[in-house]
Amino acid sequence: MKSKGEKSGQRTFEEALERLETVVDALERGNLTLEESLAHFEEGTGLIKECAAKLDAAEASCRNSSRPARDSSSSNCRLLKMKKQTKSEKAVPAFLEVLMKREAERVEALLNEVLPEGRKRPSSVHRAMRYAVLGGGKRIRPVLAILAFRACGGRGKAIYKVGAALELIHNFTLIHDDLPCMDDDRMRRGKPSVHVAFGEATALLAGDALLSLAFEVLASLGTSDSSHGLKASRMINEIAHVAGTMGIVGGQVLDMESEGKSVPLSTLTYIHTHKTGALIACSVRLGALLAGARREQLEALSRYGDRLGFAFQVVDDIRDLRASAAELGRSRARDRARKKATFPLLMGLEKSLEKAQSLVEEAKSELVGFGKYEKYLGALADYVVQRAT
Ligand code: IPE
Ligand code: IPE
Ligand code: MG
Ligand code: MG
Ligand code: MG
Repeated sequence: MKSKGEKSGQRTFEEALERLETVVDALERGNLTLEESLAHFEEGTGLIKECAAKLDAAEASCRNSSRPARDSSSSNCRLLKMKKQTKSEKAVPAFLEVLMKREAERVEALLNEVLPEGRKRPSSVHRAMRYAVLGGGKRIRPVLAILAFRACGGRGKAIYKVGAALELIHNFTLIHDDLPCMDDDRMRRGKPSVHVAFGEATALLAGDALLSLAFEVLASLGTSDSSHGLKASRMINEIAHVAGTMGIVGGQVLDMESEGKSVPLSTLTYIHTHKTGALIACSVRLGALLAGARREQLEALSRYGDRLGFAFQVVDDIRDLRASAAELGRSRARDRARKKATFPLLMGLEKSLEKAQSLVEEAKSELVGFGKYEKYLGALADYVVQRAT
């Protein structure tokens, strides 16, 4: 990549835009290392701001002058038309999405390897496991683990095993969450839910098998590289705690028991921080733990993960009402139909959005001192809350 050091003031809008296109192309080709991707992401974010500032200046000069400058009138008009698309607040997630796509592909390649082949006996359950895990998903938990790992100086590929284990657990919870005895959702990610495609018994067992496989993958970190042994044991300890009654199971139990009831904010907070927040916070912590983070780093990232994980479920509640069926990959307003305890039900949509925004701001305030990762983890937090709007 050339011209990183080029002074923005000396560059015309067209030159900045051209450079931006080069950066985006390089990101989309997907053959960069994570460090290169992040450097491109950073440069692209700066370029977007630079383009937006140049457009603002062009707009001001159009307003202030009855007769536009000789050489700029037609290009200014063209630029102003483009302004909408290059506003930084819309474009930053586009960069992040490129980064997420790249890391998601790496985690998916590993998932494809660790999941038993569909034709291997007992094939019904193996096919159901692959259908559940490899059928889409944003892979936010692995991306969080990877970024936290890098933010704490972690290097190497071991983190992808952690990412894969997190996705296996997450997808196990989704299979069970959709079962008729739970949320009774017949669609997930735009496809029939696992129990609809494979039957309830197979879905239940596929979920059990994914949970078990997650621990097999995590434990293999210690057996394949003894220097990871202690860390693997600590990570297994944390994730086992989070998957159980003190985490996801606890939250899901309260979620079920609260259907049709009017619950206080403290109960709703418990549900959201346990059924969803706990695994998201754990993803961030596992990345930091594998990197051998210092205590202050681990504590700051844990607070970031706690706030972000809580915000994630508040946003999920909002999206259930505001997003389209196509965006949700299933029908809308399922929570209302199930009489679920949700933030919009308790405090209305507007206050729920404010709650999610303030949690994300709190999360971002924990990132000071992580250098460029402050920006990346901050952008990911912004992306989570932007999904609500
Ligand atoms: C959905 O999680 C279930 C919740 C915990 C709210 P995600 O929104 O991360 O689901 P996928 O994996 O991207 O489909
Ligand atoms: C899901 O919460 C939490 C877990 C799967 C543990 P939801 O029930 O709100 O998730 P969706 O809306 O079905 O994805
Ligand atoms: Mg549920
Ligand atoms: Mg559900
Ligand atoms: Mg939901």
